[in-house]
Amino acid sequence: MRISTTKISIAELKSENCFIFLFEDELTVSANQLDTQSKGFIKGLIDAKQASNKLGKVTPVYGHESLDIKALYLVGCGKKASFTENSLIKVMSAIATIIQEKEASSIDIALTDLELKDRTVHWLAQKSTETLLTSLYKYSSTKSKKPDAPNLESINYVADEDGLNLAIETGKGMAHGINVARELGNLPGNICTPTYVAEQAEKLAEANEDITTKVIDETKLEEMGMGCFMSVSKGSVQPGKLICIEYNGASEDQKPHVLVGKGITFDTGGISLKPGAQMDEMKFDMCGAASVVGTMNALAELKPSINVVGIIVAAENMPSGNATKPGDIVTSYSGKTVEILNTDAEGRLVLCDALTYAERYEPESVIDIATLTGAIIVALGHHPTAVYSNDSDLQQQILDAGTAAWDRGWPMPLWEDYSEEVDSPYADLQNLGNSGRAGGSISAAVFLSKFAEKFKWAHLDIAGTAWTNRKSGASGRPVAMLTQYLLDKAS
Ligand code: BES
Ligand code: MN
Ligand code: ZN
Repeated sequence: MRISTTKISIAELKSENCFIFLFEDELTVSANQLDTQSKGFIKGLIDAKQASNKLGKVTPVYGHESLDIKALYLVGCGKKASFTENSLIKVMSAIATIIQEKEASSIDIALTDLELKDRTVHWLAQKSTETLLTSLYKYSSTKSKKPDAPNLESINYVADEDGLNLAIETGKGMAHGINVARELGNLPGNICTPTYVAEQAEKLAEANEDITTKVIDETKLEEMGMGCFMSVSKGSVQPGKLICIEYNGASEDQKPHVLVGKGITFDTGGISLKPGAQMDEMKFDMCGAASVVGTMNALAELKPSINVVGIIVAAENMPSGNATKPGDIVTSYSGKTVEILNTDAEGRLVLCDALTYAERYEPESVIDIATLTGAIIVALGHHPTAVYSNDSDLQQQILDAGTAAWDRGWPMPLWEDYSEEVDSPYADLQNLGNSGRAGGSISAAVFLSKFAEKFKWAHLDIAGTAWTNRKSGASGRPVAMLTQYLLDKAS
């Protein structure tokens, strides 16, 4: 995909498909210029109510003899003062829908006419690029009818500013990362197994010289003493994997930032079996891992000067004669013993061993990303990612990165008031909170915090944001938030 910018006025533009914006209360500069050039064609359309200014509505019109534009599209934007980040996303996805319908191969967008409070033109170019490219993604891997190769070859922004290249590249890199994460998330559990995830991580290393991947198999994990990870993985015939993806963008002596992704490629609940309704959606229980792969992919493209390690704990949570039973007690990699009261609280079990594993990197920061609890959906719904941390600066930096990338988080508490939640009468810890369903996402975070005492750590519960329903599929969140956080750290 070629993405460029031009500074010329829209009236001089030669275009196959040109998108201009239409606000309810004000005619944009581009609309005015085209109107003058065409002797009233645009205002005529508006006066005759042939073009809607409602947010996200697109009116296609043929070009006009006075214009070098073959097809012109008027994109409704609503009231100028109520145009927000969300509005930008709406109009850009509407444009993507038209691109697909019309099988357009080249488009121009009058970006120059959009304005957002507290956002630069660079940001508009970045987010527009990200939104267009993610809106064009469509899952098809397991359909027998393959879609035709996409027609779109070039996007051109008409903008007043030079030097939007970096912003465009950033948007592109993020979009590719997001789409990689969505594809992995959407694949079914029988294809996207722990072995498959490991293969994808290895492919990433083959394709990028800044990346190296190391995969540790069950024999080794058992030998190392990862009792919590193994307690989950041993119920399945699919072998579990611990996958380390290293991105080396800075000198060797720079301590890395570590991402830890929950990669349960299918979560049946184990012996504490889940009810059947919507169990298919538990193929998405590896979306934390997918966001790590997606973010590493974005780093490989954007090449920031920073070192990052992505650790993925990949396993399948199944009931079987080999599976862990409620009440079983295992020893974690840290040496702490854990009583497993519910085998469906498996995410914290695989993650706790990975957190201990992260210690060897002497990390600058550690962020785990996990579809950890249904309870966070009750608390926050599907809009923000829950952000927990043992360091208030780190928590704020992640929230800020989320706002900057418009992939937002919301702070959650880890007060000491909660610290006894996971005390067990039989082991050092238990994998369920003593308050039961009350504050279920918090007690899960408290459990993890006991394995993150040696570094600055944050935990993102993405159960509400990694996907919303089976039809909409994986969202690719929080790749943009994570990538932004790491880019901020590199600069
Ligand atoms: N993967 C689930 C969490 C989940 C549930 C994510 C629904 C998205 C939608 C996790 O492994 C789980 O089963 N958590 C339990 C924990 C409980 C047993 C303490 C839950 O949330 O019910
Ligand atoms: Mn579970
Ligand atoms: Zn799970």
